Amino acid sequence: MTTASAVEIQASTLAGYADASRLRQVLDRDWVLDQVTGSPETLIDLGSGIGQLLETALDRHPTLRLAVGLERSEHRIAEAAERLSRFPGRTALHQADLTDPQPLPLKADVVTMTSVLHWLYPVEDRIFSWVADRLTPDGSFLLTTYHPARDAFGLGGEDELVRAALIATGVELTDVPKVFERGEVLPIGTRTRPAEELDALLARYFTVDSYLERDAVVTVEDATQYEHFHAATFGDYYSRLVPPALRAEFFRAIGETAQRRQDELGWVSHMPVRLWRLRPLQV
Ligand SMILES: C[S@@+](CC[C@H](N)C(=O)[O-])C[C@H]1O[C@@H](n2cnc3c(N)ncnc32)[C@H](O)[C@@H]1O
Repeated sequence: MTTASAVEIQASTLAGYADASRLRQVLDRDWVLDQVTGSPETLIDLGSGIGQLLETALDRHPTLRLAVGLERSEHRIAEAAERLSRFPGRTALHQADLTDPQPLPLKADVVTMTSVLHWLYPVEDRIFSWVADRLTPDGSFLLTTYHPARDAFGLGGEDELVRAALIATGVELTDVPKVFERGEVLPIGTRTRPAEELDALLARYFTVDSYLERDAVVTVEDATQYEHFHAATFGDYYSRLVPPALRAEFFRAIGETAQRRQDELGWVSHMPVRLWRLRPLQV
């Protein structure tokens, strides 16, 4: 029997996100909250993780009577509950699967969703319909989406580092798409729809008020830092593509690939991120 390494245990609970998210996701938080205007009373954050956006929103907006987080991971909800305990009576956290959104008896001035949408592919329309029903008439839905370039096999973004790590664990380059397929792991490059396709999908539920774009550049200090970023962000989504005995090696190879890219290119990854400001359709 193989004993799980520390990084595999980290991946199984998505631990260490507060630290790891400094490399990429946290930058979305202030960018999104800067778009909140007026005096919101109710905010819902979808895929609320460890509660960082909710915490900042509550600090910034004393008018917020209720900040609600919906999140799938029980470990993340527990961490968020601890983080938000200094706002008694102003928060609610619910365990939820956003691919099958359940009724929630409230309306919100603001709904946010940052770095989550790709996990809901290909049924994003379900959460869009749910949000459209929850927004007050002058409410807004603030959504961030990532748009990595993808290759002919639909691989892009983190998939590129995973491809290199799979090769390091003995997979042939030409077999990589098959390994994804057999492992039933949809590439992130496929999960992240192109902006134009998303625009058309969103337009069925919302008015696209405006959008902003920035280049999300990830740089890294060393291989270990990226190994932990990958474990905290992607958990065991990709590592299950390799047999248990090779998983520690897989995570190490992810870190080493990141370090090599940093040394050669000056960055590990970069891709456009779009921040959509959406309003309910006027009927
Ligand atoms: C990259 S993290 C982003 C967390 C936070 N929104 C942020 O910007 O830092 C993605 C989050 O979405 C959650 N998630 C993924 N799929 C989900 C689903 N089907 N239902 C609910 N939450 C989900 C994950 O557990 C994770 O906390």
